[in-house]
Amino acid sequence: MMAPSSPAPRDLAQSSSLEELYGLLKPMHVGPGWHKPTPSLWDEPRKTFVPAHWNYEQARAALDAAGRLINTELAERRNLILFNPIPGNDYATTRTLLAAYQMILPGERARSHRHSPNALRLVVEAEPGAYTIVDGVKLMMAPGDVLLTPNWSWHGHGNEADAPAYWIDFLDTPLIHALEPMFFEPHPEIYEPVARIAEVSPMRFAWDDSMQRLEAASADSDGAYGLHIELGAPAMATISLHMVRIEAGVVTAPHRTTANAIYAVAKGAGVSMIDGETLQWSRGDVIAAPAWRPHSHRALKDSVLLRVSDEALLRKLDLLRTEVL
Ligand SMILES: [Fe+2]
Repeated sequence: MMAPSSPAPRDLAQSSSLEELYGLLKPMHVGPGWHKPTPSLWDEPRKTFVPAHWNYEQARAALDAAGRLINTELAERRNLILFNPIPGNDYATTRTLLAAYQMILPGERARSHRHSPNALRLVVEAEPGAYTIVDGVKLMMAPGDVLLTPNWSWHGHGNEADAPAYWIDFLDTPLIHALEPMFFEPHPEIYEPVARIAEVSPMRFAWDDSMQRLEAASADSDGAYGLHIELGAPAMATISLHMVRIEAGVVTAPHRTTANAIYAVAKGAGVSMIDGETLQWSRGDVIAAPAWRPHSHRALKDSVLLRVSDEALLRKLDLLRTEVL
């Protein structure tokens, strides 16, 4: 049965003007496609998210304060979310990806949990004794390591060293928010027991191994990324990871891509030119290079960037386009 405000088919059919027809359509939650106030198709990707930069030294200082002010009993994670500075956004770093700085104090443990978003972390500072447990496997954290916690894998962190450990988390949570399949579960034992300790694991890309592979890498044909290697193939279903090595003085070829990228500085210092903006970076910093923003990097020192992107996802969807400019 039609709702009282719902127009009868006869009234719709006998509309004497477009205005009258629009008035009748509204309570039906129907919009005339030819009279839409905003377009639904456009020439090329919109530049909704902006190029942005976050400084590690500032984040580290803020985390040190948070270390005094909030403990891991109260916070599931002690982290600082790097939100893209566009109106209405307080979470996503780019359309599909989130980056956050996180710190864990000596002697602390962060509870184990699992969730449908894919996640990974780049270790910035850690003394021997800092670790992540992924599905019962304890993986030690060293600076430059990349540790994966894919969709629905249990993970928790701990620090048995004398110094705080700092890292940068990356998640595809904004994508999961858009698509809706969010699931989260705390570990039934709060802290997941350690079944074994592993030096080598598909969940860990050790810094030394990445450096060895980068030494042997040759520049790709278009030079857009300089010398680079891929971690995993791809690392996770929705996230691609590349380590990019840029020697001092080298400028990478300007390019634009439909992939959203976040760069984290694993080593060195330099400048990124992103769609007319110049962003200075040094070790531990984070740079957002949203989709279709032309960008290139210039290294001031020998540098290594971790490039976290949704390239794997877009390739799978047949939506990846990259142009060297
Ligand atoms: Fe998590």
